[in-house]
Amino acid sequence: MANKVVVGAQWGDEGKAKITDLLATDADLIIRYQGGCNAGHTVVVNGKTFKFHLIPSGILYKGKTCFIGNGTVILPEYFEQEIEGLKKENIDLSGLKVSPLATITMPWHTEVDGYSEDNAQKGKIGTTKKGIGPTYTDKMGRIALKIEDLYSPEALSEKLDVILPLKNKQLKEVYGLKTYTKEEVIELCNKYAKIFEPYVCFDWQEMLHRFKKDGKKILFEGAQGVMLDVDFGTYPFVTSSNPIGGGACTGSGYGPTIIDEVIGVAKAYVTRVGEGPFVSELSNDVGDKIREVGHEYGVTTGRARRCGWFDAVTMKYACLVGGLTSIALTKIDVFDEFEEIKICTAYKDTRNGKIYSSYPTDVYIHKFLEPVYETHAGWMSDITGIKKYEDLPLNARKYLERLEEILETPISIVSVGPDREQTIFKN
Ligand code: GDP
Ligand code: IMO
Ligand code: MG
Repeated sequence: MANKVVVGAQWGDEGKAKITDLLATDADLIIRYQGGCNAGHTVVVNGKTFKFHLIPSGILYKGKTCFIGNGTVILPEYFEQEIEGLKKENIDLSGLKVSPLATITMPWHTEVDGYSEDNAQKGKIGTTKKGIGPTYTDKMGRIALKIEDLYSPEALSEKLDVILPLKNKQLKEVYGLKTYTKEEVIELCNKYAKIFEPYVCFDWQEMLHRFKKDGKKILFEGAQGVMLDVDFGTYPFVTSSNPIGGGACTGSGYGPTIIDEVIGVAKAYVTRVGEGPFVSELSNDVGDKIREVGHEYGVTTGRARRCGWFDAVTMKYACLVGGLTSIALTKIDVFDEFEEIKICTAYKDTRNGKIYSSYPTDVYIHKFLEPVYETHAGWMSDITGIKKYEDLPLNARKYLERLEEILETPISIVSVGPDREQTIFKN
């Protein structure tokens, strides 16, 4: 197996965890490289469902190393809860490792996230309220705590002398929120130190080096998706990290030369949770049918996902900026009872008729855009048990081949159900 990155190619929830779990069969090291517990990743094995937020979806295999990289932000209490849940299921956690360089989400980060969302008059993002934006803001602002700080009382004390006066002023004066004493934060950090102790990997450099030197297979698991990327997504309606393939390097400790393939996971339609533009959104009974058949409700927040037809404009953009070498197309079975299926191939500006076949990055104009569709006949049969590409109904194959043609990128995996087994490897 080549070293692969699994990237969400839409607005998240594409089925990345299913694909990661599947590809993890052949991997030795699985690395989660960005995001935090805003992610909700579902893996179904023999009918049993597992939900992950921070822990790499490769954890279900014994004997593999699962590394939570430096590019992630970690809410300790949530991490602890996830660990406890897996222990109850008797999942072997001996291969789980956390980078000492990962950033800690402190209580003030979740409080500020919640405050900003609840009090936004305009520009609400619809975040998961897990403190993601405020934690990454402080990381870039150089006033965040890293996991390694928990094990160095002097460094922690010095850092808090810089961070707390600034943070308390901001919490009190900007947000009118509770402030923190140094003693209180140190006590909290001692608790966090215990939570991470069994997993923190201080010799991560040796570990990564050894895997590389021994020619072991490395799989990177992205969270969120290209259209939520802080640089390339529908900014400001994005998350605060880089889910694109490039994020696998800044978030793991490996450089770009380690990567052989980037697999973009996309649904056969599009969903989005939270606010922000979505040109092919269906606010009608077709959208409702997709939501109900596809069970499109968030894993982390339970929110109903907005649904729409496959958007080849954003997907083509995702192929470029995500660095995709191939596509894993999921949930195609959701269309089993659809007489017709549409693909959005371009956007039309309702003000002047201008056609966009490349993604316009200025989201301000998206409210003036309408989708241009091509329509395909459905297959009207149950494909959830099909194992071979040739056995798919002709109309399903035509649909897939048309997508490959538009996107100029091969579809390497077709997923026809949530279970590991319900997967077709194409070519
Ligand atoms: P992720 O965040 O990208 O890992 O995706 P989520 O777990 O949030 O959402 C994907 C949902 O679709 C989960 O409930 C999966 O079990 C389910 N799923 C994945 N692939 C398929 C598929 O091919 N068909 C169907 N029907 N469900 C799928
Ligand atoms: P997975 O990994 C779908 C969305 C939120 C919101 C925006 C910013 O399961 O695909 P944040 O809490 O990150 O500051 O919220 O990003 N969002 C996701 N949408 N799937 C996710 O993760 C998401 N993680 C964040 O709904 O619109
Ligand atoms: Mg998800």
